[in-house]
Amino acid sequence: MPKPFYITTPIYYVNDVPHIGHAYTTVAADVLARYRRLHGDDVFFLTGLDEHGQKIQQAAAKAGIAPQTHCDRLAPQFKNLWQRLNISHDAFIRTTDVAHKKIVQLYLQQLYNKQLIYKADYTGWYCTFDERFWTEKDVVQGLCPDCKRPVEQISESNYFFRMGQCQERLIRHIESHQDFIRPQSRRNEVLGFLQKPLEDLSISRPQSRLSWGIELPFDRNYVTYVWFDALVNYVSALEYLTEPPTMKRYWPASVHLIGKDILTTHAVYWSTMLMALELPLPQTIFAHGWWTVSGEKMSKSRGNVVDPYAIVDEFGADAFRYFLLREVPFGHDGDFSREALIGRINSELANDLGNLLHRTLTMIERFAKGLVPQAHDEARTDNQLRHQAGQLPELVETHLSKLEFNRALESIGGVIQVANQHIDKSAPWKLAKDAADQSLLQTVLYDAAEALRIVALMLFPFMPQTTEAINRQLGMTGPLPDAQWGGLQPGTAIAKGEPLFPRIENTASQGGSRVNQEQSAAPTPQPSPAVAAAPAPATPEAQISIDEFMKIQLKTALVLSAERVPKSEKLLRLHVDLGSEQRQIVAGIGKRYEPESLVGKRIVIVANLKSAKLMGIESQGMVLAAGDKDVGGLVTVIEDVPPGTKVK
Ligand code: MSP
Repeated sequence: MPKPFYITTPIYYVNDVPHIGHAYTTVAADVLARYRRLHGDDVFFLTGLDEHGQKIQQAAAKAGIAPQTHCDRLAPQFKNLWQRLNISHDAFIRTTDVAHKKIVQLYLQQLYNKQLIYKADYTGWYCTFDERFWTEKDVVQGLCPDCKRPVEQISESNYFFRMGQCQERLIRHIESHQDFIRPQSRRNEVLGFLQKPLEDLSISRPQSRLSWGIELPFDRNYVTYVWFDALVNYVSALEYLTEPPTMKRYWPASVHLIGKDILTTHAVYWSTMLMALELPLPQTIFAHGWWTVSGEKMSKSRGNVVDPYAIVDEFGADAFRYFLLREVPFGHDGDFSREALIGRINSELANDLGNLLHRTLTMIERFAKGLVPQAHDEARTDNQLRHQAGQLPELVETHLSKLEFNRALESIGGVIQVANQHIDKSAPWKLAKDAADQSLLQTVLYDAAEALRIVALMLFPFMPQTTEAINRQLGMTGPLPDAQWGGLQPGTAIAKGEPLFPRIENTASQGGSRVNQEQSAAPTPQPSPAVAAAPAPATPEAQISIDEFMKIQLKTALVLSAERVPKSEKLLRLHVDLGSEQRQIVAGIGKRYEPESLVGKRIVIVANLKSAKLMGIESQGMVLAAGDKDVGGLVTVIEDVPPGTKVK
């Protein structure tokens, strides 16, 4: 029997359009859902919308429309975003669904019948934003302890859920279930909160103050507190969104993913509600951190709300998904910036992963007639790649079972790096020149391609479209084969395609791209594309001053791609990264170097040389190399300095 795995996101308020915070939890949940499905588990993945309460009533009033119309207008914004982000949820709940409302009323009635809900007069401090009461001791200088907005004193009759009587039982449950609240720091936070006496929870709002909610079945003058209504979604969905109902099959949930701000409502309100309803508690509630934007809190008033649609339009769904889970350990706060996103795309996706695929397939085309080669010569190759790729699935499992998405991606990145190093070290372009090395050459190429297949499989939960593209280029069709080394079939025709992640120039960075400005500069003749001329012994007249030397701007550059200039034995066209910009350089080093061997190398270039055309191709700089007529070797730097560092 496949193991049930039920995962949920919070249901999002429809008071506004979705932002990065909504995308974050939903992408994380999607990765886990896809990963568990890959393992053959019986997955149910739920997301949806929280459509009642004051926030929505106010937003609708502001728009001058009925609340339901407002919800109906906003719901597609969320649904379409999930489609754009390739979210694979099994159900989408809306709390205004008639069936959901009936189930909430049923539960309320049950608790009322059991006298676990009672009516009482209450005077308290009410926070309109958080839609909840606070006691005198919670309020700090007239402000809500949670959102720091002013609170007002309200006296009214309300219905209360006897939450307080569950306090001891809840503490015992948390203490005896290590994984119930995660990460550990949040568990401690809840246990700390539970050291104070737990008050009963007001679960009603008088219709006179708030009408947009589910009516209490036992008193039509009141609507249900939005959180009581919303939390029930996790079970009501199983009752009416699946046919037949799947409560028995999926409850209790395996994981509720939430943000840190809604920890108390889940760990305390929801848990005690479940206890009162005599239902088991979820296995894990995991609270993740919050995103700031370029170091600042994200808010509408600051005008810095990150629009996930715009990010997907510009960078693609997979790059965004990757960034969200790679950048910050899940559970920690993190900072979003365009620069950081572009940095990750360029270095890890375009440079490491993209180039690995590109160079592997280029070499299979050149040295193996475009067919996946046979690995005959394993004994002569370094075992590290096979070993590390072979261990990857287990490592990913270890990390994902702890929701350490960033570490899972780090391990995958490690194999990508080892695969690139494996190619550098074995230098297939050299092996190709010697008949005695043909079998070794085929083995090296097989290993690179097979490592890519395993990497692609492990990346599937994170970047499903990328996996599909890699598999297509590796010539694989049909269902995903397993992660055991050796799955790639020799003889399969590969189909090299477009680069997976074209490098992105950060046009928003200061000054924009200099490449464009320089391209318009009039080309001047250039003696040799590679600076190779050794200076003649210095005579006093030939000496230059330090000022003259300083006119030459030398910089480190990272080789992003390299290819032969057609019909030229000598010329290679390089794309290099200078940190703030990218350049194209045509260099006369083709006799000395195979293009594939240069990708990822840090070289030194003359950065302020006027551009020139060589065989009709614009060269925007010159590489430094040792040697006279023949190129002895490219100049490089010993340390791993960032591209664009000045050399002097
Ligand atoms: N409707 C409630 C949840 C009910 S669940 C039964 C709600 N909705 S929300 O739309 O306001 O927030 C949904 C989620 O977005 C929360 O988990 C919250 O933590 C998350 N985020 C809101 N802003 C965020 C960031 N800046 N960064 C990360 N997540 C953030 O609360």
